[in-house]
Amino acid sequence: MATNRTFTMIKPDAVEKNYIGGILKMINDAGFKIVAMKYTKLSKESAGAFYEVHKERPFYGELVEYMSSGPIVAAILEKENAVEEFRKLIGATNPADAAEGTIRKVYAKSIQANAVHGSDSDENAKIEGDFHFKANEIFA
Ligand code: CDP
Ligand code: MG
Repeated sequence: MATNRTFTMIKPDAVEKNYIGGILKMINDAGFKIVAMKYTKLSKESAGAFYEVHKERPFYGELVEYMSSGPIVAAILEKENAVEEFRKLIGATNPADAAEGTIRKVYAKSIQANAVHGSDSDENAKIEGDFHFKANEIFA
């Protein structure tokens, strides 16, 4: 059964370009409730750990560099069928393939600097949310 939560990050390129407000507005307008949120910066070590599943992929090293290059916004979002609904809202990994009206279509500049992260399964949503937030930092 689908849970009601997913995890997102507004990535360094989007933070740097002052897109936080615009992206959060798209998230709220799509019916997601923010139940946890943090403005923070990943160390190389924590970015490496977060993206551990991609360790063998050719882009891993550059991804870790990029994700630790500047501040991010991390958040846990709630909505029915949150993981799938949020993947629809963010659009394809490569903004060139992202559908009209998606966050990546509007705000992403490249396949790497693609504005936002969205969990790909309920299991990973839980793992990723727990990576960034303690139980007493989540306000359901
Ligand atoms: O983020 P998403 O789940 O759509 O894609 P992913 O395949 O899980 O890849 C994780 C992240 O790695 C992407 O969001 C990109 O920032 C980066 N990436 C990249 O730099 N080059 C690629 N060819 C694929 C992904
Ligand atoms: Mg992914």
